[in-house]
Amino acid sequence: MTQNKILIVDDEQNIIWVLKKGLEKKNYLVHTAASGEEALKKLAANQYLMMFSDIFMGETDGLQLLEQTRQLSPDLKVVMMTAQDTMNNTIEAMRLGAYDYITKPFDFDEVFRLIDKVEIAQSVSAPASDLPDPNQEAGTQDTSITSAIIGKSKRMQEIFKTIGKSAGSDLPVLITGESGTGKEMVASTLHQYSHRKDQPFICINCAAISRELLESELFGHERGAFTGAIETKTGKFQQADGGTLFLDEIGDMELALQAKILRVLQNNEFYRVGGKNPITVNVRIIAATNQNLGDMMNLKRFREDLYHRLNVIHIDMPPLRERLEDVPLLANHFIHRYANTLARGKVYLSPDVERILSGYHWSGNIRELENVIKRALMLALSGPILPEHLPPHLQEDVNADDEGQWDDRLNQLLQDFLLNNHEDGTVYETLIQKVEKHLFEILLSKHSGKQVATAKVLGINRNTLKRKIDSMKISPKNHKSNGS
Ligand SMILES: Nc1ncnc2c1ncn2[C@@H]1O[C@H](COP(=O)(O)OP(=O)(O)OP(=O)(O)O)[C@@H](O)[C@H]1O
Ligand SMILES: [Mg+2]
Repeated sequence: MTQNKILIVDDEQNIIWVLKKGLEKKNYLVHTAASGEEALKKLAANQYLMMFSDIFMGETDGLQLLEQTRQLSPDLKVVMMTAQDTMNNTIEAMRLGAYDYITKPFDFDEVFRLIDKVEIAQSVSAPASDLPDPNQEAGTQDTSITSAIIGKSKRMQEIFKTIGKSAGSDLPVLITGESGTGKEMVASTLHQYSHRKDQPFICINCAAISRELLESELFGHERGAFTGAIETKTGKFQQADGGTLFLDEIGDMELALQAKILRVLQNNEFYRVGGKNPITVNVRIIAATNQNLGDMMNLKRFREDLYHRLNVIHIDMPPLRERLEDVPLLANHFIHRYANTLARGKVYLSPDVERILSGYHWSGNIRELENVIKRALMLALSGPILPEHLPPHLQEDVNADDEGQWDDRLNQLLQDFLLNNHEDGTVYETLIQKVEKHLFEILLSKHSGKQVATAKVLGINRNTLKRKIDSMKISPKNHKSNGS
């Protein structure tokens, strides 16, 4: 393995000396620089594992060096050091993309923990070049990419088909589905693909506006129709004339207003609040709700006739947990979409995180996934997104299942193995022995070290197991030697 190089930047020689000695003991190759200028020269000529830099150095400002470093080598992890532990410095350093921040005099354990973390992150290699570099691509992104509905699952393919099929028609569409499943996205896509695409797409969230105001928002009002109606106002229906009106959260609309919507659907006509003359419009209606309209009709809270009028084309958005195969795709899509603003370099999913995300139940659906990715981008900044960058409830999921634990260890094992050179012809034997050892360790610890139970699960003779444990030198913390 190549020796990892670390760059230390500080104008105090004794700090450099102490840190250098400590790192060299652990076999790191240490380069040093006493100023920002010197550091930049070394950065241009060398590949470093990471850089430790002081914040306050005589002439150079460490934060400025940090900014320049981020431009020069966006993937390099930079740890800032200072004797003055102020909130502002910390926030500023992290805002500018520092990997971490330590205070002097530093604790060597902390320093080594940080280096370990960086090394682990490095050992998870970046995916092959089929994933675009988010930073590069951001510049050329057009809105059609950012607004594309992502999904390769059968359920989503069916939805794409329905959108395509109904694009040429003016029939109303009802979109149902849990919160965060992409209802609004589908509504705007329906509009974009319709012949009305050059006409307005108007949205109104029926749940966000008070009952009193909703009618006038939808239909407009005449001057003097009620106190405060100083001017005549056009409503959303009129604004959407020729285009599409998206009635979001229609399940929250009161019955009286539902009747008025029904009338527009029947004869394209409505009255402004306080108005005497009917107004005719040509509007395509798309409605959405996360409520169960069937239940609401039973409770007489949603009009059945309106339901049937709306439900001509029905698109039911599947919850994300029912199309988990789309999770990696969506996660990469959001990485790509937000890396430019939230991260500092190329960011990608580690295999562990991909597995955790693909097994989660996502009660908040795609919006929840989107937020998890945004948060992870801010924490990871560059390199792989690791389990530690996920919210705690998602991290717990890893340890919850033995299968996950097994996968993790196998993964680690393979990585260690591939990083070390092995003689040709010995690979299979060596690997199998290692896998076997890990398997025994996991099963023994699962059965509180009981060899009888472990042997039974494995379907092997207890003496065979004991012999293997002895020859493999499996540590006693994983099993009880009495074997009972
Ligand atoms: N298939 C998808 N591909 C990419 N992004 C998506 C997809 N579905 C949803 N999103 C994103 O997830 C977020 C939530 O989507 P949207 O607002 O359309 O959901 P919704 O069903 O209308 O939710 P709510 O019921 O809470 O209003 C948005 O930021 C949207 O861009
Ligand atoms: Mg919505």
